[in-house]
Amino acid sequence: MEEHHKPVLLSEVLQVLDPKPGESYLDLTAGYAGHASAILDVTRNYKESCLVDRDDYAVSILREKYSMSESVEILHMDFYDAALQLLQCGKTFDIILADFGVSSPQLDLAQRGFSFSQDGPLDMRMDRRQDFSAADIVNRYSERELVEIFEKYGEMSPGSSRKVAREIVLLRRKKKFETTSELAALVNREHRAQVFQAIRIVVNDELGLIEKTLPLIPKLLKLGGRVAIITFHSLEDRLVKDYFKQESSLGEESELKLINKKPITAEHLELVSNPRARSAKLRAACKS
Ligand SMILES: C[S@@+](CC[C@H](N)C(=O)[O-])C[C@H]1O[C@@H](n2cnc3c(N)ncnc32)[C@H](O)[C@@H]1O
Repeated sequence: MEEHHKPVLLSEVLQVLDPKPGESYLDLTAGYAGHASAILDVTRNYKESCLVDRDDYAVSILREKYSMSESVEILHMDFYDAALQLLQCGKTFDIILADFGVSSPQLDLAQRGFSFSQDGPLDMRMDRRQDFSAADIVNRYSERELVEIFEKYGEMSPGSSRKVAREIVLLRRKKKFETTSELAALVNREHRAQVFQAIRIVVNDELGLIEKTLPLIPKLLKLGGRVAIITFHSLEDRLVKDYFKQESSLGEESELKLINKKPITAEHLELVSNPRARSAKLRAACKS
């Protein structure tokens, strides 16, 4: 099968999760099963494993890949709802992985509207069943709301945020924004990635879902179970770092023990072959 997405920090993930034959596995962001297939190849426990993704294209590839082993559960939903559903069914796992952020197909397919360097609709929805898209933010948010999201989620300076927000509001009075190129043309090169990141985070409620899901992870882990989380920017990493720190410092009540104190980042060799790994940080913990 053609490779859709190169998994980041794969050998490091295998090292911290240390999968063993027979163990159960939950992948909260299964994508194109890069990590999942490496882990399932070792555990071979398909029946008690579950792959989650909210992207229909990723789910179709996962279903195609695992159609021979029908017993692996594939959930097309966001990981917060999936976590709640699994808990309600009383399921727990030996290994959990979350690899946040966008997949290569989401970025590379112009029609998904994630990329500022390709012309596509202003979309950016990971889950295309949802109505709310990037166009709603760009065309409907007030100037004040735009400034706020550029500062908060794009980590832009107040001055640059105000400038971009003002220009959007002035231009959309003449014509509503429809494409990524129209938005990219308005923002200077230096701020494009930040503006697109801010909008993407809001469209997909990325930080809100991470924040709500983290406290469910210890409940989903079996005793002795391991969780690994890969983040791609400081806002995501801060949530994971703070949560792990808080959970592991509760003394006797601590459910999670850190596997690595400092985040693991990609080696030079991986950076050369996979630029997506540049900002990746891996944190891991085990349930004791
Ligand atoms: C970086 S990719 C994961 C790639 C995967 N580890 C692999 O090796 O193929 C992130 C995936 O997480 C999914 N995703 C992001 N946020 C999600 C959420 N809240 N719920 C479910 N899936 C999510 C995206 O649709 C995307 O497919």
